[in-house]
Amino acid sequence: MSQVARPHVRRHRPPGWEEFVMPIHRIAYVSVPHPALTGGDIADILRAARARNASLKLSGMLLHEFGRFIQLLEGPAASLETVLDAISRDTRHTNMRVFLSQSGFERSFGRWAMWSHFSRGELTEGETHAREILQRAALENLADMERETARRSMRARWRADRPGA
Ligand SMILES: Cc1cc2nc3c(=O)[nH]c(=O)nc-3n(C[C@H](O)[C@H](O)[C@H](O)COP(=O)(O)O)c2cc1C
Repeated sequence: MSQVARPHVRRHRPPGWEEFVMPIHRIAYVSVPHPALTGGDIADILRAARARNASLKLSGMLLHEFGRFIQLLEGPAASLETVLDAISRDTRHTNMRVFLSQSGFERSFGRWAMWSHFSRGELTEGETHAREILQRAALENLADMERETARRSMRARWRADRPGA
């Protein structure tokens, strides 16, 4: 019987290979920080966020700009759900509004358990681009919200000026 050498199939799987085939989900939101929040409070949030996110395979970024928090979180859907549930109950901010919710295969901030402009980690070109897109989307969302608030208050004033209308 001839011995035909079978091609050797390598089954080597590098650490983190699941990341390439597992879909991830990403959520971005804006919220209003508690007015009494200090730099120290934000450092506390980041410390806790990084520890928990790393253990849940979550990545993302947190900005504190225009008097708002803007946060991106990405990773396995179940991890996201757990952390978002905690974040939405956190009294250190209010008025959380999700402006992005999508699935994909690639992370935008995969190198960061929670990047923040406070901690000054150097971003790549791709990450900087993602940050700018998110900032723009957050600003558009805030502008929409303000337009809607203005429209509502104009309508209320119009009604108040015309009793019985
Ligand atoms: C603006 C903001 C962003 C936060 N981001 C995260 C985060 O990315 N990951 C995280 O685990 N906790 C984050 N937290 C903290 C959570 O709200 C919560 O305190 C923490 O996850 C502990 O949850 P527990 O109180 O249910 O144990 C954030 C809080 C705030 C106010």
